[in-house]
Amino acid sequence: KRIVVLYGGRADEHSISCVSTAGVLNAWNNDKFEAIPIGITKDGHWVYGGTDPRTFKLDGAHMPTVEITPESRPVVLNIGQGRDGFLIGEHEGFTTPGASEDLESLGHIDAVFPVLHGPYGEDGTVQGLLEMMGVPYVGCGVFASAACMDKHFTKTLLKAAGIPVSPGITLDTRSYDAPSGFKANGAALLDAVRKAGLEYPLFVKPSRAGSSFGVTKVEEESADALAAAVFEASHHDWRVLVETGITAREIECAVFAPKPGETPRPAWPGEIVLDHAAVEDQFYDYDSKYTDASASHVEVPAKLPEELLRKVQQTAVRAFEAVDGAGLSRVDTFVKPDGDVLVNEINTMPGFTPISMYPKAWEASGIAYPDLIEALIEGVLD
Ligand code: DAL
Ligand code: MG
Repeated sequence: KRIVVLYGGRADEHSISCVSTAGVLNAWNNDKFEAIPIGITKDGHWVYGGTDPRTFKLDGAHMPTVEITPESRPVVLNIGQGRDGFLIGEHEGFTTPGASEDLESLGHIDAVFPVLHGPYGEDGTVQGLLEMMGVPYVGCGVFASAACMDKHFTKTLLKAAGIPVSPGITLDTRSYDAPSGFKANGAALLDAVRKAGLEYPLFVKPSRAGSSFGVTKVEEESADALAAAVFEASHHDWRVLVETGITAREIECAVFAPKPGETPRPAWPGEIVLDHAAVEDQFYDYDSKYTDASASHVEVPAKLPEELLRKVQQTAVRAFEAVDGAGLSRVDTFVKPDGDVLVNEINTMPGFTPISMYPKAWEASGIAYPDLIEALIEGVLD
């Protein structure tokens, strides 16, 4: 069976996707599946050949990217040709792939594994493209992908299903005064926070982003600090969330449902343990996730009473079902000292890097990394 592995992509999380893909391909069962890696550059070119994604590594400030090299050939999709519609051409004329007679088919494709994080990958857009082509793909469908990419709408769905989420407000920053860095909006923002009864510290985050891009912790009431945080988040998405920072443990639960219609299975929940001395912003931000891998680690199973572990698992499965999840997701929760479990977000294509929770949680729960990848692919093959 021939499986296209999509990686890179147009999102801020481009490099994370590259490293996730190295993880997935190094756990690949080459006897069973032929992997056909197709990279997507940051500006959206689809590329076949070039740098082998198996060599990508987490490397602090120098994270890998998909580059166009002399060996890489452009990939063009001919949607009308369905699973035979992945075409490759010559590397000259990269920007305009030229007439179809210059292009050859990559051959019949059995499924696609989109190892993409963030917008234009994890948000239903690629999934929609593959639906149009009639190509099976691993993971959540269009709806769940789109709903979980946008934290505002994830919360709307979860609340409707009776699943607790962090108190917060959603802002549309499109009319804000950018040259002032939103300073002029500071007083009104503070007022909105007060009216909503949000408590400090606050977390300000873009609605559609991942890996903590654009997230700021606002420690105390300050119009300038709040305006600056909203401005920062607005670089990633005009829709911005301001939430009460929950004092809680960060417990994440991997969910696995490789076959359509099958009851989703939760892994042992794991905990994000920060080395607070090393974490400058005192939260699990981008640097503590990827730049300084020693600043945090995952602990599976989390040290929680059995009853609470079960509660997290049940909440994760309910959340996965509430958004119409499929294949896999990692449900990130907050477990409060009083035992309340809140859902923070759902990642429909969770990180697969060497330090990522999803594969580690399944290793600890009895499914080896290669078996996990194999089951996810087999689940969508017809
Ligand atoms: N968005 C990143 C990849 C994660 O949640 O693992
Ligand atoms: Mg995320």
